[in-house]
Amino acid sequence: MPLLSVRMRASLEGRHVSGAERIVREDEVEETVTELLGRPKEFDEVVITVEKLESVELIDEALPVESYSFGSVKEAREFALKILVEAGVPESIARKAVLLLSEGPSPSGGVMRGAVVMDVETGERLEPDKERGIRTVRVDWEDRKRVREEILRAGYTERTVDALAIATKNIYCGAVAELCWSDDPQYVTGYVATQRRGYVRITPLKERGDPIGGRVYFIRREDFGRFVECVEGRAFLIRRLQPSSPSS
Ligand code: COA
Ligand code: AMP
Repeated sequence: MPLLSVRMRASLEGRHVSGAERIVREDEVEETVTELLGRPKEFDEVVITVEKLESVELIDEALPVESYSFGSVKEAREFALKILVEAGVPESIARKAVLLLSEGPSPSGGVMRGAVVMDVETGERLEPDKERGIRTVRVDWEDRKRVREEILRAGYTERTVDALAIATKNIYCGAVAELCWSDDPQYVTGYVATQRRGYVRITPLKERGDPIGGRVYFIRREDFGRFVECVEGRAFLIRRLQPSSPSS
């Protein structure tokens, strides 16, 4: 049966306030549109896109999830750096990315509309438009309801459901690593994702009340074209979670 991508974006006073997406069967489109329409609390405009997908690839397993808490942002960021270095990101480049997210990656001082793509060897930003960045789209869970229940039962948050899907797709598409913390001032848990270690949740990667955040994808320069084509263009469903490792 053909699958469709259903995407929602909402804006308020010209600012993006909510985005979500699903990949569903034709008979699920109506209920999905209704669900996504109900998500933004405040908006001037909601845009829903329904698109038939020519092909959808399967990823068997999401990245394994670990979770770590620290007493300070400094310690948490040092730990994030350690995992990036373990994954093959030179320490100076990993520090550059942490500094970039802490100062704000948008040249205008606003919020970027996607992720920074950083050359893992030189630290150069490769995304052609530094306000837009690169967005990971067309990814969902094969059985979202079950995965959501399992993630919540493991003590993780609703946000993990979507962020884990994005990170899994990014690593599958060839990213060496990803670093993320939200621009939501109340949400201080971020993550580092790597092929070797998986999806490592880290708290607190910023101070509560801080409105600055973003994503950095570490890429080998020669993979850039293929990577962007994969994260933006190819559609993926992820089958299942992996058993989680113990966390501290
Ligand atoms: N942040 C800010 N602005 C955004 C945006 C985002 N995440 N996504 C879209 N926009 C705005 C931009 O102005 C964009 O123009 P641009 O390409 O010049 O930046 C415009 O909307 C149109 O973007 P488009 O790429 O056509 O949007 P879309 O209809 O494909 O929707 C979303 C993209 C909203 C679905 C995607 O960005 C998103 O947020 N996905 C949710 C991620 C997620 O949770 N996925 C996991 C599912 S398991
Ligand atoms: P969030 O975790 O939703 O607060 O997002 C953190 C940052 O990730 C945002 O400020 C954007 O810069 C970036 N971002 C948002 N959506 C996407 C996406 N679909 N793909 C890549 N980056 C994104």
